[in-house]
Amino acid sequence: MNLKDLYINFFISKGHKQIPSAPVVPENDPSVLFNTAGMQPLVPYLMGAHHPYGKRLCDYQKCVRTNDLDSVGDTTHHTFFEMLGNWSLGDYFKDESISWSFEFLTEVLNIPKNKLAVTVFKGNDKIPMDEVSYNKWLSLGIPKERIVLTEEDNFWIAGEMGPCGPDTEIFYYRSDKEVPTVFDESDENWVEIWNNVFMEFVKNPDGSISELPNKNVDTGMGVERTTAILEGVNDNYASSIWKDIIELISELSGLPYEGNEKSMRIIADHLRTAVFISADYAGIKPSNTDQGYILRRLIRRAIRHAKKLNIDINSDFESLIAKKILDQYQDYYQELKDNYEVVLEVLRNEKIKFNRTLEKGLKEFNKITSKKEDIDAITAFHLYDTYGFPIELTVEMASELGLKVDEKGFEEKFREHQELSRSASAGKFKGGLAGNGEIETRYHTATHLLNAALKEVVSKDVHQKGSNITAESLLINIQI
Ligand code: SER
Repeated sequence: MNLKDLYINFFISKGHKQIPSAPVVPENDPSVLFNTAGMQPLVPYLMGAHHPYGKRLCDYQKCVRTNDLDSVGDTTHHTFFEMLGNWSLGDYFKDESISWSFEFLTEVLNIPKNKLAVTVFKGNDKIPMDEVSYNKWLSLGIPKERIVLTEEDNFWIAGEMGPCGPDTEIFYYRSDKEVPTVFDESDENWVEIWNNVFMEFVKNPDGSISELPNKNVDTGMGVERTTAILEGVNDNYASSIWKDIIELISELSGLPYEGNEKSMRIIADHLRTAVFISADYAGIKPSNTDQGYILRRLIRRAIRHAKKLNIDINSDFESLIAKKILDQYQDYYQELKDNYEVVLEVLRNEKIKFNRTLEKGLKEFNKITSKKEDIDAITAFHLYDTYGFPIELTVEMASELGLKVDEKGFEEKFREHQELSRSASAGKFKGGLAGNGEIETRYHTATHLLNAALKEVVSKDVHQKGSNITAESLLINIQI
């Protein structure tokens, strides 16, 4: 059985209800492009609203994070990942949460206790040290030397405000070497695998902290990272999750993974994310705004790397890879079944479109860079506008030649160009909570607070039907 199934079965056995993964494109929330964390769809309930499935929940949540899209290509970054989570909405708290995490790790995943270490909240002038968690770990046999107290790293909040609280993070020693007696967070063999947040507070817009109506638990475990660790590989893309996909890319290119890792990881990662975005019931299609532009960038960057590996980009290579991904995940996500053909069509159409201008664009790019000069904003915009080169493609290709691109200037031109589309603020293109401007992030959290409060005070049938958030205003459309 794989990690996801083991996890869900375990928490069901502890009285949890499995809730379906929320869509990657948040419903009724135009202020963020994608769902970026397991707890994001649960914010109103952590704030106190009643959840129809009860007080003990678990799930695997699809998450898309595109703010460090450029880092994809190394061993750990992904633009799409699944996050395992279990929640208590005012039900159990630290004791059970820590006991069950420990039981799952040591008795279900059979991790030796000796390979585990934890961090616990040290306390500050506002909130005292988390002695309950500290003592709980001791009672489970984690020695003092393996418990590190921190202030900053053990207080969790998504963005600027909203539900938050002290957390305890669980680390695993990934090397075959003898496990050091003392836990040293800076030793990279110690990797964080699970985060248990005890959400009993809310950070208010003025920065003050007050208590939530309930003491909640919110935990998060990344499927890709934990699977790689448990399988003993240092490269996430070498785990069973990616094995078949990477093998197919290797077959299509006639090249080994070794030596071509970067391009192969980018193709695998970007096409997987593109599959999930285009399968979403929101019906996203490649475009020049919002989610559509992210989708376009992902597909185009994957195509460019396929070309780098000498894959015939006029073949149906993208369909073959997408089918492998769809087959791997369709039993978990209904939309992949329902939209199987839609996904293949979206990828194919975008490939055809990009391939029309790619050759000419590459010629133009070579001409431009033959002068060995950095690329200015007008030229970068020309590559985008005429040849469909998303900015990071130009930046990546330029950096391979040791050249820079005026990205700021490009963003300005891009914004000017998109003036008509009100939602096209630069921040939004980064995607997710982390990418938005500070004010927009605050307003976004405020919509969650407002929703939870309305559900509590007015009626549980209050539903948000839309919102329009800019740095200047927050408009929210409510239906009862
Ligand atoms: N909210 C915490 C995290 O994302 C635990 O789920 O790590």
